[in-house]
Amino acid sequence: HRHLLALQGLEPPYIAELLDLAESYALLNRGGKAQRDLLRGRTLINLFFEDSTRTRTSFELAGKRLGADVINMSVSTSSVNKGETLLDTAATLNAMQTDLLVIRHSQSGAPALLSQKVDAGVINAGDGTHEHPTQALLDALTIRRRKGTLENLTVAICGDVLHSRVARSNIHLLLAMNCRVRIVGPPTLIPAEAEALGVEVFHDMRAGLKDADVVMMLRLQKERMQGGLVPSAREFFRFYGLDAAKLRHAKPDAIVMHPGPMNRGVEIDSAVADDPARSVIGEQVEMGVAVRMAVLDVLSQNQRRNAR
Ligand code: CP
Repeated sequence: HRHLLALQGLEPPYIAELLDLAESYALLNRGGKAQRDLLRGRTLINLFFEDSTRTRTSFELAGKRLGADVINMSVSTSSVNKGETLLDTAATLNAMQTDLLVIRHSQSGAPALLSQKVDAGVINAGDGTHEHPTQALLDALTIRRRKGTLENLTVAICGDVLHSRVARSNIHLLLAMNCRVRIVGPPTLIPAEAEALGVEVFHDMRAGLKDADVVMMLRLQKERMQGGLVPSAREFFRFYGLDAAKLRHAKPDAIVMHPGPMNRGVEIDSAVADDPARSVIGEQVEMGVAVRMAVLDVLSQNQRRNAR
């Protein structure tokens, strides 16, 4: 594969290869020994048309730890503001012999479009409501570390699934790796195609969380609810916010995940988010660096192979 645009359709052995490599980077990172020359002389550009804390920072760290020249293009101060189109921006970056382009965009499909126009390997860092592949990879790595396997686990993905690219990427990955996937939320925030994807749909948290191994909470994406009904934070928390009482319906050793950014008191209670016995939110962030190192490693190796 030259690019990482989506997890839908990716072969399970390729996903497992990425996770295994990410695991080895996670161990090296913990030992402070991950400085390598693998990407020496290569250029990685972060092109984020939407805000980010975790994804952009961890791609920067990942690129630097592998020896790449990393440039964070600030879209808000770029010529995009003078009316330059996405494709003209891409052509400009292409002319600078960029090797890897990491893009986040509000339009679903923008990274795929870009990948047809540039020579660089393109990595989707989140496109609209479509996919966020590296997030699902880091989630899977975190689950595998905590549970020892992905096979036959029950994963409940809860909240605003409709607008969530994180949920879509997770659904594709987890089903490919033989997990049982449930999605839990109010009917207005569940995508119409949910059951066709092969997941079970629940509108009640207690039923959806019953005996789950993993509880993954999602943020209400108000910025994508233009014209739609925005639930009140208080009502949402009452019915769908994860607190200790609702979590009791999951398995006693169930882990709690959140891709971030969190809205405490809306989709998750602080006591649960900060409970070291259950919450793996910090480990998710840590695994983000390892997963992105693995993705950069594999894509750059594939580029070298194609160049031969
Ligand atoms: N999970 C995630 O994508 O976080 P950021 O928006 O901070 O990158």
